Order: sequence, then structure tokens, then C-alpha cells
Amino acid sequence: MSVEILSLCGAEEFARELESDARAGLTRTPKSLPPKYFYDARGSQLFEEITRLPEYYLTRAETSILERVAGEIVALARPREIVEIGAGFSRKTQLLLDALGTSGGKRFVPIDVSSDALEAAGARLTARYPWLEFLGVVGDFERHLAAIPRSGARLVCFLGSTIGNLETEARVPFLKSVRAMLEGQDRFLLGVDLVKSPARLFAAYNDARGITADFNKNVLHVLDRELGGDLDPEAFAHRAFYDPRHERIEMRLVALQRVEARLAKLELELVFDPGDELHTEISCKFRRETVAEAFRGAGLVLERWITDEPGDFALALGRLS
Ligand code: AVJ
Repeated sequence: MSVEILSLCGAEEFARELESDARAGLTRTPKSLPPKYFYDARGSQLFEEITRLPEYYLTRAETSILERVAGEIVALARPREIVEIGAGFSRKTQLLLDALGTSGGKRFVPIDVSSDALEAAGARLTARYPWLEFLGVVGDFERHLAAIPRSGARLVCFLGSTIGNLETEARVPFLKSVRAMLEGQDRFLLGVDLVKSPARLFAAYNDARGITADFNKNVLHVLDRELGGDLDPEAFAHRAFYDPRHERIEMRLVALQRVEARLAKLELELVFDPGDELHTEISCKFRRETVAEAFRGAGLVLERWITDEPGDFALALGRLS
């Protein structure tokens, strides 16, 4: 397998984007940061740990669906290449790669903001799929989808319910950018976490071991390292709750005391009073009809809707309408 990395967003550009996102997010009320900055090496490791927690059913549920239907999806799409958006370590995608078969001429194209994760995935997958081409794309899925080079029939995947991180208003515009990656009989495979009992949703983001809390606080380590900050992550508490009206988890960091900090690189002074919050993530939960409607709004049709046995999680298969 040949491993190639294409960078659409270099380290310098990513650093400048963090600077402007941090300046904008930390000077508004309430303070907020985009969730993509969780995923430095430590944050990616913590997320991996989250996926193995007893409370965090999402990854297991999605894997169980893929184990059942990967073959069927690949048979429908007949892809020359699988493009994976927000790929991370691409563990679940192996079920789709397995279904591709061992004939040559197939390509795997993961896009992720983390070049570390892509290089690790490249090394691991080379060993396992010597017949497969690997093109890792370093980029941001909200900006760089159109620049991913195409080699033929595509199966585009966006797994793990990462689409839940987007604000509701951003969903259809994002899906339109996915639609623009598709031609003819190409398919789009989307993983979504489903609306369910608030108690189970709460537990999934408030695990007993506190790994999610460490993951949440890690964004402060990222600010300190990248922006010359002196925020003390231990001065903040993890808070995650289910908002039934918006059908989404809200994740925040709450100041436990008065915090005065400085981000030297931005020449920015930050003040938190006790109880002040930093909004770090939303994680929207879905219903079949919401997904079908968002697909329609973006020029896609929902061709298949496949849930796991308990109905916790779904894979939505879309194609051009
Ligand atoms: C990777 C965005 C799907 O929202 O469930 C896990 C991230 N945050 N625990 C999610 C996350 C807290 C995760 N996504």
C-alpha cells in the first residue's frame, strides 16, 4: 500500500485559526470554543478511552451496525474510494475496508485535522491492507471537502455522530458541501446518535471514571500550550447535561473559583467569576425524520436507515436526489 499525505491546512494555518477562534470565543458571552481543539495527541487518546467506557455506548452501537451491514453498503456503492470525514484513527472504517475486497485499484482517503492521527492510521492500515492506496488529507471538514481529489466512484463516510457537534443551522450547509463531493451513484454514509432516555444520555457524558471530564479540561491544556496561557484546568469543573428541548448534550467547563488568566500570544486577559462557564461542545441527538429532512434540504435522499438492535444509534445512507 502506498501512503501519501496531502496537507490542505498546515500547522501554521491551524495555529492561526486557533488564535482567531480563541480570541472570538473567549471575548464573547457566554465564552465558547469550537470542539475541534480537543483533539491534540492527548485529547485524541482520551477520546479513544471514552469510546471504551461502559457508559459511552455510541462507538459499540455503531460498530455493531457496521459489522452487520458493511458488506451490503459496499455492494450498493461499489466504490473506487472510501472517503472518511473526521476520520481520527479510522478503527470502525476497517469494517468497510474489509468489505472492499483485495483486488487492487482501491483507495482510502481519510480527512482529519490531526496529521498525527492520519500518520498513525496510515502506518497501521498499510500493514493490514497492502493492496490499498492511502491518501491522508490534513484539513478541516467545514472548509476543505471540495479540495479532496477524486479518483472514481465514492463512498463518503461521516461516522461517530460527529455531525452532532454542528449547530442546527450549520447542518444543511455542511450536508450541501458533502453533496458537492458526490457524483452519479456515489453514496454518503452518516452515523448518528439517536434521541433516547435522558438518563442514558447524561451517563454517556458523565462517566464514573471522569475520563470525559479530563477530555473536556484538555482543551485548556491546548490553550495553555498553543497560546502561552496560564489557565489552571483544575480550577474548572466538567459539566455535561441533556437539553431535551434542543435534543442535545451541552458540555461546558465551570469555574470553581475566580480565575484570572492570560493568553500571552493573544495579549488577552481572561476573567471567570465562580460559576462562569466556557461552552466547549454540543452533541445533537437525532431522529429518522430530522435526518431525512436535513438530507432533503441538501439535495440528498435517505436511501437506507439502519439502527442497532436497541435503537440507540443509526447509520443513514444517502445518495443524490
Ligand atoms: C466525537 C463528537 C461524536 O459528541 O459524543 C465524547 C465527542 N464528547 N464525549 C460526542 C465526545 C464527550 C463525541 N463526538
